[in-house]
Amino acid sequence: MDEGKALRILLIIGGGIAAYKSCELIRLIRRNGGEVTCVLTDGGAQFVTPMTLAALSENSVHTTLWDLKNEVEMGHIQLSREADLIVVCPATANMLAKMAAGIADDLATTLLLATDKPVMAVPAMNVRMWGHAATQANVATLRDAGVMVLQPDEGTMACGEYGAGRLPEPDAIWAAIARWTGSGAGSAGEAAPKEEQGGLGGLIASLIPRGTKTRAAAQDALLADKGSARISPDDLGPRATATGFGDAFDGAPLAGRHVLVTAGPTHEPIDPVRYIANRSSGKQGFAIAAAAAAAGARVTLVAGPVTLDTPPGVTRIDVQTAREMLAAVRTALPADVAVMAAAVADWRTRDAMDQKLKKRSSAPPALMLEENPDILATLGTSDARPGLLIGFAAETQDVVENARGKRTRKRADWIVANDVSGGIGQSVMGGASNTIHLVTQSGVENWPEMPKEEVAVKLVERIAGALENIDD
Ligand SMILES: Cc1cc2nc3c(=O)[nH]c(=O)nc-3n(C[C@H](O)[C@H](O)[C@H](O)COP(=O)(O)O)c2cc1C
Repeated sequence: MDEGKALRILLIIGGGIAAYKSCELIRLIRRNGGEVTCVLTDGGAQFVTPMTLAALSENSVHTTLWDLKNEVEMGHIQLSREADLIVVCPATANMLAKMAAGIADDLATTLLLATDKPVMAVPAMNVRMWGHAATQANVATLRDAGVMVLQPDEGTMACGEYGAGRLPEPDAIWAAIARWTGSGAGSAGEAAPKEEQGGLGGLIASLIPRGTKTRAAAQDALLADKGSARISPDDLGPRATATGFGDAFDGAPLAGRHVLVTAGPTHEPIDPVRYIANRSSGKQGFAIAAAAAAAGARVTLVAGPVTLDTPPGVTRIDVQTAREMLAAVRTALPADVAVMAAAVADWRTRDAMDQKLKKRSSAPPALMLEENPDILATLGTSDARPGLLIGFAAETQDVVENARGKRTRKRADWIVANDVSGGIGQSVMGGASNTIHLVTQSGVENWPEMPKEEVAVKLVERIAGALENIDD
């Protein structure tokens, strides 16, 4: 999303009975300062008219690929690139199937295949259509490719049957969009009046509930970023490779959430060729980022120097030092959850040399160290503290006791503690599996040894459960 500009949504309306609810969604987006451009499928046009959508959006409505005027300028590609977010609502079973298979036989599916922008799909269909193995496989494929597929509601359907498949209420869809922007869920009823809106401040003001601490903190954090290297959805790359977490979750329990993860070691320079480091491989943090994305979250991964591939659907920011990591974390806020899995160096050299240190015949040089910023503790006391703050503790002795102390000292909600003792190659650091002690306010859970991917899924499930409780 460009700073200072309104949120631009490209809304694709499919051929479902719930298409009329997209009219209400347009109203909500606009009332909250966003802009909407509509694409109506042939199926969608059986349920709502282009005239209604044009009147509500105050924009042209696009209905066909075969538009000579627009296609002189490759209008379908342009449309797919102009928005900050593409929302498919309602996403019919047919639309999900075409998206998963890469079919491009009309304007909507062609631009969905051509886009480099994030896509959110809001399914709505009969309970049996939703439960069908083909639809479920298509949803898993799409989530695996980084599409945010929201979970339909359960209830009585237009056809009279009961079950999962109803379109979520427009208010809930808007809340998911607002959370995706990173500004916290703005319920439509709490939006700022129009006269307060305008520019970046106006949009943020309208996205965040009024009068709350979160709103003030989030607004400060975003405004402070003006002109700095804030990651925007524009930076999200194509999402084509599989995570392996595609069907790990029942639905998208973190849809609409922003999850911030740090991973890997930091490197603290001694001179241009040497540095202080640790054995962290980043595998656990990357697995958590991948699992959170598969669970539907918008994920920002701040990574120290590692050689791992970026999981699909994850925005990655590479850093070298602890200070760079803290700056990137601050820039990425606000977030609903922060999982601080990086092994941040406690110390850095006080005077890193510009030139390579030379070997001398006399005594070796003394390295003077100074303390690095404590990223977890900084977040713990920050005004923009995420609702759920999770730290990691790598210990070689008194693992649980030390983790308990760390949780209180750093004002974290949970500490994921692991024993990193063991020789080179046998330690959790760099290894493929992990034995976790999850330390929370209510006690300690001892998880058996399991692959780091399984730890990631289990932790993300716990996070989703905790967020539900926070919302309640
Ligand atoms: C009255 C009626 C209601 C329908 N409702 C839905 C629906 O809610 N969800 C769905 O997936 N398909 C629904 N369908 C079937 C779709 O309209 C059909 O699969 C169509 O090809 C989808 O078009 P699209 O690809 O433009 O979305 C409905 C069909 C009819 C006739």
